[in-house]
Amino acid sequence: MIIDVLTLFPEMFSAVTDHSIIGRAVANGIINIRLTDIRDYTMDKHNRTDDTPFGGGAGMVMSAEPVFRTLEAIGAKEGRIIYMSPKGRLLDRALIEELSLENRIVLLCGHYEGIDQRVLDHWNIEEVSIGDYILTGGELAAMVLIDAIGRLLPGVLGSSESHKEESIYSGLLEYPQYTKPREFRKLTVPEVLLSGDHNLIRLWKYEQALLLTCHRRPDLFEAYLAREKVLSKQEKAVLERVIGICRLERKQ
Ligand code: ADE
Repeated sequence: MIIDVLTLFPEMFSAVTDHSIIGRAVANGIINIRLTDIRDYTMDKHNRTDDTPFGGGAGMVMSAEPVFRTLEAIGAKEGRIIYMSPKGRLLDRALIEELSLENRIVLLCGHYEGIDQRVLDHWNIEEVSIGDYILTGGELAAMVLIDAIGRLLPGVLGSSESHKEESIYSGLLEYPQYTKPREFRKLTVPEVLLSGDHNLIRLWKYEQALLLTCHRRPDLFEAYLAREKVLSKQEKAVLERVIGICRLERKQ
């Protein structure tokens, strides 16, 4: 996948391009992150990329010209252009999955009070927000998006990392994890995980994922219940039990 990033701060992206799992995917050529510095496309003799807003108001606005010229220079109309913005559609799992199927995306990072609206209108740019809070720029948001998309691309997660994205867990919060030693400062591990009984362990994990989701994210739990699932008899029994527990707890 090609990801073009248009930014005033390309150096920030070494955080994703040079480290960990996404860094490895970049090195392996699975993700091609192309950084373009918007400042290289300014026509202003002082290299300025922003100006005061028409109509007054606080802060500065990124000027149309350098952003427009950057989009032209990289041939952005061949890709899906996304402007990272707190006004955008909230990023969620469904959008990440959708974006992971694209061949090329173009991430536009704004600064200051945003970008001259004419750029967004002319290029018909989609806006995406990573949450209901305001960052100082779109770069961190773009990195969040790259990380979340990147891990879904084939070959990015090794088999030991990709683990159980099995369909019965899809949409649930993950069950708790433990590792060696069995006892740490008198703190123990749930006995079932040491039992060696794979079926029992599997059902325990499923139950934990269901309980956690029902307690912390009732919205996700309801969505999970509404979804078609292929469950074994034992899994169905676990699900029924958890639904019962949740109903009781909610009544209290
Ligand atoms: N830029 C500033 N705040 C943002 C947010 N919450 N999401 C995406 N881009 C942003």
